[in-house]
Amino acid sequence: MSVICAAIIFASLRCCDGNLRFASYYGDHMVLQKSPQRAVLWGYGTDGAQVTVSLSGPVPQKTSSAPMTEGIWQVTLDPVVAGGPYNVTAASQNSTVILTDVLFGDIWLCGGQSNMYFKTSQVFNASEELANATKYPHLRTFMAALKMSDTELTDLIQVKLPWSGPTSTALPGVVAEFSAVCWLFGRYMYDYLRYPIGLVESCWGGTPVEAWSSSGALQKCGLKQSEDSPKERNSVLWNAMIHPLLNMTIYGAIWYQGEANADYHQDKYNCSFPAMIDDWRKAFHQGSQEQTAHDFPFGFIQLDTYRINSTDDGFPDIRWHQTADVGFVPNPVMKKTFMAVTFDLPDKTSPYGTIHPRDKQDVAYRLTLGARAVAYDEEDVLFLGPFPKLIWSTETVINITYDQVVSVTPSKDIFEICCSVKRPNESKSQWAPAAIVNWDPTSIQLSATYCQPPDEVTAVRYAWRDWPCDFKACPVYSASRILPAPPFIVNKDPGEGNIWKSSN
Ligand SMILES: *[C@@H]1O[C@H](CO)[C@@H](O)[C@H](O)[C@H]1NC(C)=O
Ligand SMILES: *[C@@H]1O[C@H](CO)[C@@H](O)[C@H](O)[C@H]1NC(C)=O
Ligand SMILES: *[C@@H]1O[C@H](CO)[C@@H](O)[C@H](O)[C@H]1NC(C)=O
Ligand SMILES: *[C@@H]1O[C@H](CO)[C@@H](O)[C@H](O)[C@H]1NC(C)=O
Ligand SMILES: *[C@@H]1O[C@H](CO)[C@@H](O)[C@H](O)[C@H]1NC(C)=O
Ligand SMILES: *[C@@H]1O[C@H](CO)[C@@H](O)[C@H](O)[C@H]1NC(C)=O
Ligand SMILES: *[C@@H]1O[C@H](CO)[C@@H](O)[C@H](O)[C@H]1NC(C)=O
Ligand SMILES: *[C@@H]1O[C@H](CO)[C@@H](O)[C@H](O)[C@H]1NC(C)=O
Repeated sequence: MSVICAAIIFASLRCCDGNLRFASYYGDHMVLQKSPQRAVLWGYGTDGAQVTVSLSGPVPQKTSSAPMTEGIWQVTLDPVVAGGPYNVTAASQNSTVILTDVLFGDIWLCGGQSNMYFKTSQVFNASEELANATKYPHLRTFMAALKMSDTELTDLIQVKLPWSGPTSTALPGVVAEFSAVCWLFGRYMYDYLRYPIGLVESCWGGTPVEAWSSSGALQKCGLKQSEDSPKERNSVLWNAMIHPLLNMTIYGAIWYQGEANADYHQDKYNCSFPAMIDDWRKAFHQGSQEQTAHDFPFGFIQLDTYRINSTDDGFPDIRWHQTADVGFVPNPVMKKTFMAVTFDLPDKTSPYGTIHPRDKQDVAYRLTLGARAVAYDEEDVLFLGPFPKLIWSTETVINITYDQVVSVTPSKDIFEICCSVKRPNESKSQWAPAAIVNWDPTSIQLSATYCQPPDEVTAVRYAWRDWPCDFKACPVYSASRILPAPPFIVNKDPGEGNIWKSSN
């Protein structure tokens, strides 16, 4: 406990007191973005002075300098290849400030709500995960404190966990408090990349996407200021916890959020989420002197489960809206994004509530498959489970052909069909279970007999429930059984005869 308390530092942000220093999120043991991008450094000092930044470490680097404008300086380093450690010295007039043990690698920003905030000490096998943390001296963590602001800030109000050090005995204590999904994502990525990774956690439980979005992004979706609880006030976390980070060069972002929108502006999430991603990309690109890519990779976790046997559509709707109603990513609306499908990882007995499943290892691992394919261009990495590419129907069956080999367990009710005529005894919904009657390596056939002529099937959907299956026991997986088929809903196009859908 004392380790953690000692780790909470206050960034003193009296702007322009003239003291030379770095902005709050630059510190000893940090990771700066490696080449081909250029790292951006900034801080405070005496107006009118010139600031010179020099590096000492394994590879000689050129010195960069910049003037101080309104008490703020900013330099863009020449590209530095992955590695370290470096000391980074900023000098101005007769003062110098030094960051020691700085590594160059890739920076990933980790955002969202409580499932991103969920700590490594809370996952299954937490003690092994924490013991393993010391084996990753090139994985460094930083966490912004939870703060709100009504205006866009240039620096963080407070730092929760400063950049962690490699040999520090406090490291497992720091990782214990750090986001499990972010840490595990970094760990699996390090095993793959083998160079330093900096993880920046900036998230807050129970928060809707509106809080993390700029007013411009919200306007695109017709979202107005809400009168609800403070955390739901539009843009307050964008202002205090994201905007200050724009000046740092990053490689990409991962995001675990959406639960708080399952009953809050959920019909807009197919607009608000893609709009937030586009807006963050534009803002980080501008803020970093164009060093952060204008289309930086953005990965996210499709919602897990919350309430067993629930018929509420909130979670299924958000899962669908997380893909801009396409069902998979990347897609033309959400370019360079990747997703981990996780609705098959429920946790009935989670002491943190069923909305917080403890298996974050599978969540993070699935996400790293997408990162390898989308963020690092590795070819032939399968990162999403089977998705329909062709659907056709007769009066008695619906045939779904998938884009990959499927591993199928029969189910009577995870697929559902919608009939064109509402029956008198059906008060709520025309959706009815459609049993799997047959399958082969790449297709599944469903019974459509529930809709007897002249009634016909007008739509089919898969796993459209908050909690569709038991742990890793959904009916459709990839051949290797690592990746669950994502949920989908497809309407029959009345003009297209019996062929519903003929491409991805
Ligand atoms: C960085 O500074 C520390 C402390 O002043 C010193 O011990 C270390 O040798 C320096 N490292 C490099 C690479 O210059
Ligand atoms: C820097 O030098 C000036 C004048 O030479 C002096 O007044 C000032 O106190 C010095 N500042 C520091 C931080 O040493
Ligand atoms: C810990 O590290 C060891 C060796 O690197 C590895 O075999 C083991 O699976 C890791 N444990 C966990 C829980 O990841
Ligand atoms: C978003 O979802 C809502 C509600 O389901 C729907 O009415 C709307 O057409 C969708 N918008 C887009 C852009 O897909
Ligand atoms: C950081 O980025 C913001 C947004 O682009 C910009 O307004 C601000 O001037 C930048 N800060 C510094 C210190 O350059
Ligand atoms: C959910 O439904 C199943 C099947 O009807 C039932 O066995 C189980 O007890 C229900 N669970 C809860 C928590 O309601
Ligand atoms: C926890 O560890 C056990 C034993 O090594 C392993 O079988 C299980 O998959 C691990 N759980 C998670 C979520 O990693
Ligand atoms: C589904 O239709 C395709 C042709 O479109 C066929 O090759 C496949 O065998 C059918 N699947 C099943 C399970 O009958």
